[in-house]
Amino acid sequence: MNAPLTRWQAGDGAAPRHVAVIMDGNGRWAKKRGLPRTFGHSSGARQVRALVEHCADLGISHVTLFAFSSENWKRPADEVSSLMSLFVLYLEKEIRDMNLNGVRLKVIGDASRFDARLQKLIADAQSQTAGNTRITLTVAANYGGRWDMLEAVRRWQAAHPQRPVSELSEADIATYLSMADAPDPDLLIRTGGESRVSNFLLWQLAYAELYFTDVLWPDFSVQELDKALAWYADKDRRFGAVTQSVAS
Ligand code: IPE
Ligand code: IPE
Ligand code: MG
Repeated sequence: MNAPLTRWQAGDGAAPRHVAVIMDGNGRWAKKRGLPRTFGHSSGARQVRALVEHCADLGISHVTLFAFSSENWKRPADEVSSLMSLFVLYLEKEIRDMNLNGVRLKVIGDASRFDARLQKLIADAQSQTAGNTRITLTVAANYGGRWDMLEAVRRWQAAHPQRPVSELSEADIATYLSMADAPDPDLLIRTGGESRVSNFLLWQLAYAELYFTDVLWPDFSVQELDKALAWYADKDRRFGAVTQSVAS
């Protein structure tokens, strides 16, 4: 097994500042073992800490994890409620160590649908970790990219009731999106074998490199993360322009 990457080792490539992850495949991981789907979710949740730590060690400043989509309410009620309990447990258990490790926690998504206890835990966790600067961990919960864009436009309009929508710019929308204070993701990782974005950060992923792997989320180790980062390091990010070598 290769030793994990230490500081960013990317040849000439710039380090990703922001890595976003669609953590998919928990249910299939459990099914393969004859276990209920919820075992997959709890095993998946246990992976998070080591991966965030590894990103922080590499100098990646933002990690964003898709934990629950605005469409995941369509799942059976017992699965939804065990995902909510897991989120509560995660917040209760991890905040102390996040503070020790310099992790700032942010939660994006429509929290209004969560019960009062979870809403309070989210608010407390964010305020208790707000001063940490080593890495920002954003958890997307009841999040949808379309919801985010619609909210941004609505919030812009509420803040500028006199301005006609013809004056609304891309920069205005970006200011009101839920990830407004983060750079756009450089790298999106999706585990679990599907090659789709499933309504994650639609606006912000415009120029992300998209890495899809069959590895199921509970099996996504630090070594697997290093593979994704090595793949990213080889990319020629043109942003619509031409690189020097192509131009000449
Ligand atoms: C991802 O794993 C976790 C959530 C969507 C909450 P899944 O639960 O989607 O696992 P699969 O895709 O059914 O294997
Ligand atoms: C995406 O996974 C959402 C999360 C990982 C939280 P899903 O399992 O919900 O996505 P689909 O249904 O396969 O598109
Ligand atoms: Mg899935």
